[in-house]
Amino acid sequence: MTNAVPHEEVLATLNDPGFLLEPAAFYARLRHDAPLVFVPPLQTWLVFRYEDVQRVLTDYATFSSRVPFPPEQTDFTQSVNFMDPPRHKSVRALAQQSFTLKRVEAMAPRIAEIARDLLDAVLEREGFDFIQDYANPLPIIVIAEILGVPTDDTARFTDLSNRIVTGDQAAISELATYFRGLIEHRKQHPGDDLVTALVQAHTEGEHLSEQELVDFCIVLLVGGNETTAKLIGNALLCLRDFPALRQTLLEHPEQTPAFIEEVLRLRSPVQTMQRIVRTDTEWYGQTLRAGEIIEAVIGAANLDETVFDDPNTLRLERKGRHLAFGNGIHFCLGAPLARLEARIALQHALERLPDLRPVDHAALMPVPAYGFHGVVSLPVTHGKH
Ligand code: HEM
Repeated sequence: MTNAVPHEEVLATLNDPGFLLEPAAFYARLRHDAPLVFVPPLQTWLVFRYEDVQRVLTDYATFSSRVPFPPEQTDFTQSVNFMDPPRHKSVRALAQQSFTLKRVEAMAPRIAEIARDLLDAVLEREGFDFIQDYANPLPIIVIAEILGVPTDDTARFTDLSNRIVTGDQAAISELATYFRGLIEHRKQHPGDDLVTALVQAHTEGEHLSEQELVDFCIVLLVGGNETTAKLIGNALLCLRDFPALRQTLLEHPEQTPAFIEEVLRLRSPVQTMQRIVRTDTEWYGQTLRAGEIIEAVIGAANLDETVFDDPNTLRLERKGRHLAFGNGIHFCLGAPLARLEARIALQHALERLPDLRPVDHAALMPVPAYGFHGVVSLPVTHGKH
């Protein structure tokens, strides 16, 4: 198959702010006309159809998670998300033993309290920034408390988290050093926190290695904060796009989880996941060579009209088959936490501020990388002043 969308156009569009804010139309064209594209400047293949994205995410025999790191990176290389079987299975089982549903659900009252505190701080203002003042801080505070990061360290922890998502290598090393210290401390002084539980986790004589432990702490921070913050922001964008749902959610808060699932599908915070090709593979008449990178474009798959009727419409009754949290062995370990945080954050915001909405005509700046979807800042009004 020859690609009906030239790779130069794909690359230019992927970096275009208009596309980053509203990617649906271009994704539809790619799914239809160019389902598998090689982009030479990125040295990367991209796939867009639901079935193909699902294959790349699940077929670890062909597509490995062991993607290369920058040569200077030493920490955050033994993280569960970069592993293949068999080690992936053991590390994931050990991690899951500690990062349990019970631990997550026990956080619900505290998440509600954090949401209330953050709203208290902005309520007196006529408007505020929904991302900077609310969606960003909430998941960071939550994960810091789950891990057992002492309150005195929260500011430093937040700063490191913010720097890491920009790819700051020094911040990765600094955070790894921080966690090594925290882990040592918990070995001597166990607490009722996740770091202590991870230190103690074992099955059949297996433990997490020191580096695996540190890297798991890092991935909880890196994998969970920006993504969940974007989800909370994207929920408000969806309410802007489907205004009739505001009243539905106010009258039927029990519908919020269904709403969040559709936000995840329509505006997936994680748009692509990378794999590395293990063996030469023929696909759509093209040859993927061993060692090449391939990106499964989750954001495009979740709008695939062959899987979702009327894919660009938010429907609360839709049955969730979206790939926003991945698929198969690497399915997001933090999905229950992300869902809980987003539900509580949205319910509290709407309950307190029923007229909360983005400021009309505010120029929205998308996250400047096509791997993520969301806005950097979202000025809102709430009519309460
Ligand atoms: C809306 C928020 C989130 C989204 C959209 C998201 C998305 C994803 C996706 C797509 C994957 C699959 C990676 C792959 O296939 O290579 C993943 C894996 C993972 N996520 Fe999330 N995530 C979110 C929140 C969180 C949170 C809150 C945490 C933890 C605090 C977390 C921790 C992880 C971990 C540890 C993995 C690796 C699992 C494995 O490789 O077995 N995520 N996430």
